[in-house]
Amino acid sequence: MQNFSFIGKYLAYRFFSQTKHDVHPPFLFDLITRVFEDKSKISDYIKVENLKKELLGNNKTINVEDYGAGSSVNKGNQRTIGQIAKNSSKPVKYGRLLYRLVKYFNTHTILELGTSLGLSSAYMTLANPDGKVITIEGCPNISSVATENFKKLNIKNIELITGKFDNELTKVINKTDKIDFIFIDGNHRKEPTIKYFEQILQKTNNDSVLIFDDIHWSKGMEAAWKYVKNHTSVTLTVDIFFMGLVFLKKELSKENFIIRF
Ligand SMILES: C[S@@+](CC[C@H](N)C(=O)[O-])C[C@H]1O[C@@H](n2cnc3c(N)ncnc32)[C@H](O)[C@@H]1O
Repeated sequence: MQNFSFIGKYLAYRFFSQTKHDVHPPFLFDLITRVFEDKSKISDYIKVENLKKELLGNNKTINVEDYGAGSSVNKGNQRTIGQIAKNSSKPVKYGRLLYRLVKYFNTHTILELGTSLGLSSAYMTLANPDGKVITIEGCPNISSVATENFKKLNIKNIELITGKFDNELTKVINKTDKIDFIFIDGNHRKEPTIKYFEQILQKTNNDSVLIFDDIHWSKGMEAAWKYVKNHTSVTLTVDIFFMGLVFLKKELSKENFIIRF
C-alpha cells in the first residue's frame, strides 16, 4: 500500500493539473487531444490484455533476482508469475498510452529499460510492426517468461537482452545509430536514472521521445525528474504523475506542464 505522503502528492496532482484548455503550445494541445484522449477500441490492446489476464492467474513460482530500486541482488526470492504481473506491469491505461504514443510519433527504434513479463514491450511492438524494440531485463527467469509471451503474441520485431542495465545499456548505445523512443521503467533511483538518461542522450535526435516511469515514487526519483526537466537538451516536459514525458524538439519553448490523465 502507498504511504500517506504519496497519496497526498497524487491528490495535489489531481487538483492542480491542467487540461488541454489551459495550455498554449499547439504541439501539446494536439498530443492531449489525439493521444491522451483517444478512446478508440483497438484489437492489439485486447491481445495484450488477454495475455495479462492469463498471467495474473498463473500460480507457477519462479526465483526472482531484483536489481532494482532500494535492493541489492536478492537471490532466492520466490514469486508467482501472477504476483509479478500484478505488481510489476503498468496498469492497462498506461500500456495503451505507450501504444498510442509509439503510433502517433511513428517511432522506429524503441528502447525499454525493464521488460518484466513483456507487457509494455508488447504494446510498443504491436504499435509499430515495422519498427524495432530493444528491451533489457536483469532477471533471467523473468526474461524467460517474457520470451514465451512474445512467442504467444507472435511478436518478432523485438530484441530482449538479459542483463543489468549498467552493463547492457552501453553495448546497446554503441551498436545503435539512433533511438527514437525510450521507456525507462526499472531501477527507479536518482543516480542510475540520471546516468541512463545521459547515456541515452548520445543517440537521441530532435524528434526523440523519452518516457520516465514513476517520477514521483521517491525523493530520489523526484530529484532525477527535476534534473531531466532542467537539462539543456530538454525543451517541453509533461508530468502525468505516474509517468513523465520528455521532448527535445528545439522548436518548442522550454516549459514544464502537469497534465491531468
Ligand atoms: C517495473 S518492472 C517493468 C515493467 C514493464 N515495463 C511493464 O510495464 O510491463 C521493472 C523491471 O526492471 C528490472 N530491473 C530493475 N532494475 C534493473 C537493473 N538495474 N538491471 C536490469 N533489470 C532491472 C526488474 O527485474 C523488473 O523486472
